[in-house]
Formats: sequence, structure tokens, C-alpha cells
Amino acid sequence: MTHPVLAALGLSSTESGTYLGRGEWSKTTDAGVLEPVNPSTGEVIGKVYASSQSDYDIIVERAQEAFQVWRSMPAPKRGEAIRLCADALRAHKDALGSLVALEMGKIKPEGDGEVQEMIDIGDFAVGLSRQLYGLTMHSERPGHRMYEQYHPLGIVGIISAFNFPVAVWAWNSFLAGVCGDVCIWKPSPKTPFSAIASMKICNEALAKAGFPDIFFLFNDAGTEIAQNFVDDKRIPLISFTGSTHVGRLVGERVAQRMGRSLLELGGNNAIIVDETADLKLAIPAIVFGAVGTAGQRCTTTRRLFVHESIADTVIEKLVAAYKQVETKIGDPTLATTLMGPLNSQEAVAQFLKAIEGAKAAGGKVLTGGAAIEGRGNFVLPTIIGDIKNSDAVVQAETFAPILYVMTFKTVDEAIALQNAVPQGLSSAIFTTNLKAAEAFLAASGSDCGIANVNIGTSGAEIGGAFGGEKETGGGRESGSDAWKVYMRRQTNTINYSDSLPLAQGIKFDV
Ligand code: UN1
Repeated sequence: MTHPVLAALGLSSTESGTYLGRGEWSKTTDAGVLEPVNPSTGEVIGKVYASSQSDYDIIVERAQEAFQVWRSMPAPKRGEAIRLCADALRAHKDALGSLVALEMGKIKPEGDGEVQEMIDIGDFAVGLSRQLYGLTMHSERPGHRMYEQYHPLGIVGIISAFNFPVAVWAWNSFLAGVCGDVCIWKPSPKTPFSAIASMKICNEALAKAGFPDIFFLFNDAGTEIAQNFVDDKRIPLISFTGSTHVGRLVGERVAQRMGRSLLELGGNNAIIVDETADLKLAIPAIVFGAVGTAGQRCTTTRRLFVHESIADTVIEKLVAAYKQVETKIGDPTLATTLMGPLNSQEAVAQFLKAIEGAKAAGGKVLTGGAAIEGRGNFVLPTIIGDIKNSDAVVQAETFAPILYVMTFKTVDEAIALQNAVPQGLSSAIFTTNLKAAEAFLAASGSDCGIANVNIGTSGAEIGGAFGGEKETGGGRESGSDAWKVYMRRQTNTINYSDSLPLAQGIKFDV
């Protein structure tokens, strides 16, 4: 029987994972099968047929053809296409949010929130389609005009992760779409149905209005096609979201062929709470940051630095809040649930391994510290104290709800500790001291791509550029001028005079 959440989106329990363009889904059935599992129950949700190499070749050829048409369509008209996608997503928000919750395991409001991020970036892209501005410069030569313009780049390859199975695709594809690019998407093998549903919703809206195909999809049962994708010279940009380990391989391979990559990799995000902090803000922000999405956001709060004078109070309040959360762990699709399961059994194993590692390093489990027996991949949200920032387990990103708590004496010391990890995605300080806040935001402050004051590390709005430094990969997606990565910049100089003065005053008489 088809799961009702799939049925609500017009999907059946067996689907093709390959959108070939021209309204066609591949008939390939011999290239492997993906069987995404409901992380709450361990039951298989349905079957998705993976793509063959020849499916992939058809997609790239058709994407190239589509690009020839799409790049010449006026950008505001391309914006109209994305407006239709965002509208179609509005109409399906509840159903798609439920599918994300079912397949990924995040709670329903987070699933809906993820679809809201798609809608928001769609709206952003519509406005952007009239604002793909270049600069004009004053030429140093008389009778010359100089300016720059942004042209579409070509095919954008998007490789997304299970934790944000639909929003990250929309961040990339909606911006790339208004920029005049066409996109080929390889979603996580753990969440193919969410990808198929998003493609159907958007592509049907585009086709109905007579727009060409700009969004293509393939699913890989292994890693061979994905590797060809990364190495494919016909794809000028690969946008990759996932682990630092895989991101490094992707970045190196794309660089090898002189392609462009946009990397959004691991985070090891910290919150600093100084002695002046308003704990009414800090405590819920820490709990949401550390426990939200069961610790499976790139922006999840993994480290907490508390001023030593308030450490006992903060820990006591956090433990009390965690005990509350414990009573609301369960089926993510139920309205009362605050924390769902981890996405996979491997993630549970990683969670347990990190706790063992922390204990071996002398860490003390203050709450949680175990998996929940029974069906599904449920674990207890965990706080660990008596641990050092330099301990290996604290330096690594474990995609699970584990918070390491450490103390500090001065804000400078806290900033130095928060920066002393390989990753550099998100960071926050809770303080009412202006000097501490500004020190945190200064050039000598947080080294992360995101630095917040009196707001936690996760839950970034789409309007800002999203991404981070160091092993987080340096890429920026979503708002601000992140669109520029999806375009090629061209500098143009026009001589409307009757002479040919050379730049830098050079004389070259012929
Ligand atoms: C991610 O975890 O990959 O800032 C993205 C947030 C979300 C996006 C997270 N808006 O938590």
C-alpha cells in the first residue's frame, strides 16, 4: 500500500528517480533501487529506481539544449517561472512538509519550515531577477565606456544532503534559475521521495505555463554516476552540501578540471554565554540549537562556552529543559513531538561512538548519553561536561544532539576557544555587554561565516549569505549576493572615439 503521505502528493510507492526532461521520467529499472527508510519505525517507505549512466547522458544533453533557450530569456521572465514554482510550493506546503518529516525524520513544523525556506528563496529570486546588477566604471581613456555584466553560467550540478532534503536544492536552483542556468540535482539517497515530489511540483508548474525544462533529477544507487557528474566538464559549477570528508574530494576533483565549486560542509558551532547574558533568551536558544532537528543541522549548536560564574545555573536550567524534551521525543509527524529520530542507524552508532569517546577523554554525561531502546533511531539529547575544546571528539562534527559544555573566564578566551576548531560555519554570543558583543563581531572576533548576538547558531534566514570558512568550505548560498556564483562576469570596454589610446599610457606606433 502506498504511504498516505506519498499519496497526498500524487506519488506511488514505486517511483522513477530520474527526470529526463520533456515531461519524461525514466523507465530504467535495472540500475539499482533506493529504499528510503522511515527513521521512526525502520520501515521501508517505498522504492525509487536509480538512474543509469545512459539516463545521465540524456539528462546532460537535454540540459545543454535547454540552456541554449533559457539563457536568452529575459531575466524578469525567468523570475516569473520561479514565482510559479514558489506558488506551487505554497499550495503543497503541508503535504511536502509532511513528506520531509516522514523521510528525513525532522518534526513536522521543521518540515513545513523547510518548505517555507523554499518559498522564501523563490520570492527572493523573483525580486533578484530584476536586480542582477553589474557595476559601471570610469574609463581612464577618453571616449571610452567600461562596465561589467553577468551572464548565465550553464549547467549547475547540485548535490544535497539528507538533513535539508528540499530547501538546499531550492536555494541553489531558484537562484541559478533566475540567473539563466539549468540545474541537475542529485539528492541524498536517504531522501529521494522528497526530491521527486519537489521536482514534480515545480516542473508541472513550469510546464503548465509553457516554460522549458530547467530542473533535472537523477538518483545514484552507488557513487559512480555522482563521480562522473563531479568530473563532467559540461557542468561549470558543482554545488555540494555534505560532510567535509566528501566535500574535500568534490572540491579537489572540480578544481582539477578548473570548474567552480560551492561547498557547504560541516560546522562545529558554538554559543558563548557571558556573565551578563539574559538567560531567558540564552537557554531556549541553546536548546533549540542543540536539540532541534535532533542535532542534524549544519548549524546545530555543538559547543557551549559559559562564563564560570554562571556555569552551574546554566547547566541546571539546560538539564531541566532537556528532561522536558525527553518527554516529547517520538514520531516527528505528531504535533506534540519536539524531537524526532536520527536519520539512520549509522547516525545512532556515530552518536554512541562520540559519547564513548567523550567519556574516554574524561567527559561526564550530565544528561542523556544513550540510545532509546525499541523501534526507530531515537536517542536521548545529551549534554557532556568536564571536557576540553581540544579533545578529538569535541573537534569533530558528530551529526547528533550532543552538546559539549565548557567554561571560560574572559570573553577573549571564549572567542579563542570557539575559533579553535577546523570548521567555521555558525557562532553566537549571548551578552548584554556592548563591548563583548562588538569584540565577538570584530575582525579579531568570531572566524565563522555566521556570527550572531543574542540569537542562536541555527535557523538562519534566507536573506543573508549562508555558509562558512575553513573546513566548512567557503561557499555562500541563499541571500545577499550569493547569486554571483551562478553567473559568469564579463568586463566590457567600448571605444566610441576616433583614436586608439592604450591603457597605462603605452605608446605602440605601427
Ligand atoms: C543545513 O543545516 O544544511 O540555518 C542548513 C539553518 C537553516 C539551514 C540549515 N536555515 O538552520
